[in-house]
Amino acid sequence: MKTDTKRCILITGGAGFIGSHLVMFMVERYPDYHIVNLDNLTYAGNLENLKAIESAPNYTFVRGDITDATLLASLFEEYAFDGVIHLAAESHVDRSIENPLAFIETNVVGTVQLLSAARNAWAADFTGKRFYHVSTDEVYGSLGTTGYFRETTAYDPRSPYSASKAASDHFVRAWFHTYGLPVVLSNCSNNYGPYQFPEKLIPLMINNIRHGKPLPVYGDGSNIRDWLWVGDHVTAIDRIFHAGRIGETYNIGGNNERTNLELVYALCDIVDDLLVRPAGTSRQLITFVKDRPGHDQRYAIDAGKIKQELGWEPSVSVEEGLAKTAAWYLEQTDWLEHVTSGAYQEYYKQHYGE
Ligand code: NAD
Ligand code: DAU
Repeated sequence: MKTDTKRCILITGGAGFIGSHLVMFMVERYPDYHIVNLDNLTYAGNLENLKAIESAPNYTFVRGDITDATLLASLFEEYAFDGVIHLAAESHVDRSIENPLAFIETNVVGTVQLLSAARNAWAADFTGKRFYHVSTDEVYGSLGTTGYFRETTAYDPRSPYSASKAASDHFVRAWFHTYGLPVVLSNCSNNYGPYQFPEKLIPLMINNIRHGKPLPVYGDGSNIRDWLWVGDHVTAIDRIFHAGRIGETYNIGGNNERTNLELVYALCDIVDDLLVRPAGTSRQLITFVKDRPGHDQRYAIDAGKIKQELGWEPSVSVEEGLAKTAAWYLEQTDWLEHVTSGAYQEYYKQHYGE
């Protein structure tokens, strides 16, 4: 068993969008920790995201599936993990509507396999151990024009994705209450920034604006999301992993509520400016398309608990973050071409009909 570092942490889903930002942050910030990244590299996982740290001495990548109990047991034998930060998931709501079973398999069964592996490995002594489950605000359902999601808000998931994440949260709490596994959870709002797969709203719109393609806004564009710069999510995870209270849940949000239409207008204007196109050019590409079934109207987070207990607050405004994100995607054309070639073209045609 490898035990030569101060801490040994298993991060799952570390080749995905948020996971890759977290892995890079942890590897660089904590040179005396060993970070093991377990990811099976679905369409959403990409080792190109991790180039900056791929040969760091305190980093190991393992390609494998979180539903594979044998692999998990052998990893817990090989490494003296004292922490798990669990992000691996199927994460796209539209795909969950088309193929719910994949979400149950990874998000529910995979989480239960990981909980069991950690419990089996740590059963003799839970002291100093921590299982951190990264979840979403979508478990709380849909808000009207007022109100905020708090940690005490009743669960009301409405898509196969959010139902699978809600189920996983319940299993994490069950392992805490039933077996005493030291867990901590967080439920976060919509993230954005570099390395997000372009099936999600912001990178999809930037990519389409760049190519002069229609900008598919679902319904009337009035749905509201609370946008958080991915780097701010990472600092919140760091804070919660190190200082969050065992058994507790922390909501994380950006205090940046925007309607989808406001957000797409802003992206059009930023990209037109960066590409030196006449003002208003890309707004003409906006096309209202059939709404997402069961489309949640509004998400908004009360992040008071993490601010009061752990002193965390978002640091990047949505204006600043969108400008940085658009500039990144316009520069990283190779990355975009790689991830949007192949299977993604099929998904796009099937979902958007062109
Ligand atoms: P993502 O889809 O970009 O990345 C998911 C990663 O998990 C990929 O690298 C993929 O290869 C890996 N993965 C999927 N199935 C796996 C399996 N069976 N075994 C091993 N690896 C597997 O997702 P993301 O947007 O980075 O989200 C990460 C986590 O954060 C998820 O749990 C998600 O629910 C949660 N979250 C996301 C957001 C957001 O706005 N993106 C907000 C709140 C919470
Ligand atoms: O709230 C946190 C969640 O945010 C995470 O748990 C999910 O993993 C993440 O995907 C995200 O879910 P959303 O469904 O909110 O994100 P998405 O980018 O898919 O859509 C954002 C909004 O934009 C939503 O109201 C649907 C709308 N939309 C999306 C796409 C892809 C469009 O209008 N057109 C589109 O083409």
